[in-house]
Formats: sequence, C-alpha cells, structure tokens
Amino acid sequence: MGRLDRKPKIRLGRATRRERAVPRVGTTTKRTEERRLAVGLMAGTSLDGVDAALIRLAGALERPRVKLLKFITTAYPEELHERLLHIAGGGATNAAEMSELNFRVGEAFGRAALLVCRNARLKPERLAVIGSHGQTVFHQGSATGRIRASTLQIGEPALIARIAGVPVVADFRTADVAAGGEGAPLVPIVDYLLLSNDRQGTVALNLGGIANVTVIPPRARGADVFGFDTGPGNMVMDAVVRHFTGGKEPYDADGRTAARGQVIEPLLRRCLAHPFVRRRPPKSAGREQFGRDFVTQYFLARPDWRYEDLLRTAVELTACSIAKAIRQSVFPRYAPDRKLHHLVISGGGAHNRLLVDRLRELLPELNLEFSDDYGLPVDAKEAIAFAILAERTLHGLSGNLPSVTGARKAVPLGKLVQS
Ligand SMILES: Nc1ncnc2c1ncn2[C@@H]1O[C@H](COP(=O)(O)OP(=O)(O)O)[C@@H](O)[C@H]1O
Ligand SMILES: [Mg+2]
Repeated sequence: MGRLDRKPKIRLGRATRRERAVPRVGTTTKRTEERRLAVGLMAGTSLDGVDAALIRLAGALERPRVKLLKFITTAYPEELHERLLHIAGGGATNAAEMSELNFRVGEAFGRAALLVCRNARLKPERLAVIGSHGQTVFHQGSATGRIRASTLQIGEPALIARIAGVPVVADFRTADVAAGGEGAPLVPIVDYLLLSNDRQGTVALNLGGIANVTVIPPRARGADVFGFDTGPGNMVMDAVVRHFTGGKEPYDADGRTAARGQVIEPLLRRCLAHPFVRRRPPKSAGREQFGRDFVTQYFLARPDWRYEDLLRTAVELTACSIAKAIRQSVFPRYAPDRKLHHLVISGGGAHNRLLVDRLRELLPELNLEFSDDYGLPVDAKEAIAFAILAERTLHGLSGNLPSVTGARKAVPLGKLVQS
C-alpha cells in the first residue's frame, strides 16, 4: 500500500498570530478551549541533552489531532553530562549531589521549554501545559531478589513551572511502577493514538539509548497494543565510541566507523545470551543492564579486540536483539503480512545507516519506514509523546497501557505543579 493511502494524524505547522498573542487576564475564548498548545520535554538514557517539542492539540481529549509547531534539542553542558553519566551508571553519589542535580537538570529543562517557545515566537504563557519526562538516573522496572522495583527521574518540575510560568506535569513513570508495572515504555499509547490504522499493522521501533517496540495490529483497541524494551539501542555503541575516542566523539556518525569493522562472533553470541535479551516481555531496561558495567565486562574484556570490530559487533547486538525479540514475542501473536506490515523507526539511532540497513535485512517481512513519513520527525517523537501524555494527565485520563507495562490497571501518570 502506497504512502498516499495513509492519512497522517500529525502535521507540521506554525503557531498562528492569534496563538502567539498573550491573552488578556480573565478571558478564555472557545477557540483556546478547542485548540491547546503544549510542550513536551524529553531526555533519554543516551544523556545527549533535552529535546523540546511544541505542539498544538485539537479535537477530542481522548484522541486529539496533533500538529508539531517547533522542535529543538539542547545539549547538556559537558560537565553536567559527565556527572549524570557517572550517577546513571551506578557511580557513588550522595543526597546533596542528587538534590543539586535535580535543580540543575530542572533548569536545563525550563530553559529548553523557553527556547522552543522563543523559536516559535510564542509567549510561554500561551501554553496549557508542559509535560516533562525528566532525566532517568535509576530505573528498575521489576523486583529482583530483595531489591524492589523503583524508578527515579530528576529535573525539578517546580523549577520548570517557575521558569516558564506554566503548569508542569512530570514524573510519569512512578505511577505505573506503583501500579505494579515496569514504568516503561510509556510512548506506546501515543503510538497507538497517532499510528493506528484500519488496514495496516505497525511495529513502531524507537532507537534511543535503549530500543523499544510498540505493536499495533490493524483496527487495534488499546488492549490489543503491546510493547516492551528489546535491549540496547545506541547505548552500547555510544559507550564503545566514547571509550576509544577518549570522550571526544559522542557517537559513530551514520555508523561509518562500524561499517569498516567485522562482527566478533563469540562476543555477539555471549551478548545475545544476556538474561535481559532472553527474557520474555513485559520488560524494560536502562543503564542498569547495558551501561558501563556491561560494556566493561563484555566489550572491553580483551585488549586485542579492535575498535571498528567492537563497534560493528555493538551494531549487530542492537539489530539482532531487536529482530530476535520481534520474531519470538511479536510474530507468533500477530503474523507479518496478515497483521503486521510496517516497521516504523524513530529515535537518534534512525540516523545510523548501518543499523537501519541491518534491521531491513534481518526483518524482510516488514516494510521499513521512518516516523517522519507519518509527520513525526524521528528526533521529536518522544518529546511530542510527553506533551500528549501531560494533557491526558491534566484531564484525568490514563497514560499507561497495562498490556505494555504489566501494570494492574491503567492510571493517569505524573504529578502536577501549578505555575
Ligand atoms: N548522525 C547520527 N549517526 C549515528 N547515530 C546518531 C546520529 N545522531 C544521533 N545518533 C544516536 O542517537 C542517540 C540519541 O538518540 P535519542 O533518540 O536522543 O536517544 P535518547 O532518547 O536515549 O536520548 C545518540 O546518542 C547517538 O547514538
Ligand atoms: Mg536524547
């Protein structure tokens, strides 16, 4: 089926002059009730910085039409990046440092919200809400042994609300964990709202630090949708690059260095035998599984392994763990061709040509596309999702899908800070 047959549910656009104008105090027009502006702020496990998406929502709260007005990415200052990498990698810290970082990250998020509004020439007070994912510094979706499940995203929402002068919904994952869920992935409900289709089934694949899939069969209802983290996205590749370039390069641009290497087969086999890769969903992962310790233990085990070959193996690990998860846990439930037709890729890993080529080769049953084809730029999709989730929370609508996270029930996600 050609692209023209599909109707994108989200379009690119600009803020209108009316939206840019500041409202007079005490007036709310019907129009502003119908069309709402929101900003979503996202910082993933890659720790590459804060993404901010300004969107316009219109129509029913349960199933809004969405238009992306502006998107920006702001990098963390190098020193903040290093400290977050240290803490999120399980390094020693104390309450004073955590408290300070919570405010430092909150400031970076608040500034990103201001900047995306400024770039759209829009006064922040026009926003109905900001949805802030925060920066994950710890995530353990299921209890292991005596350690209970918990998750921690920092980036103080009170500071974001203060900087932007807008109500902020933040801390989305905790409510799902409290309801017995993994706390991740949370984007699937938005994938479902924006990508579901009567005739075609879709696997939405986000390649962030961690990779995750959302499975949406044709004519899906919420309960038919499922998804899970498959394992590493860019996290292992990025760590290998940083190690071998002494931190000078953050990632392998377009997968060019990896393309010169050869897969180290015994290392790949060992990685694919990792307990997380073998586990059945629901499951969620983070630096706890595939961060510094994993890379040291698996990838830096032998000094004679070459940089390009290690990087090539890291690409293969990402591609194979995704393909394996889709074959083992998705196709038996929804058959390719009959129920699933497309693999829609998003996230920074979509820029890695070698990784994308390998996914195309390993999953020939699915037609590989990018989320841009649906009006969701690959880098903006998750930030857009947290703006939509924030509006849902503001109106008491649930944000998690129990079929995805394993939660006992669907609950509104996050905490609201009034401006
Ligand atoms: N041109 C590129 N070539 C290869 N990889 C890229 C490129 N641009 C971004 N990336 C990868 O995408 C990552 C960021 O992706 P992102 O979706 O922001 O992840 P997260 O949600 O974890 O922050 C980078 O760390 C890098 O690995
Ligand atoms: Mg990122």
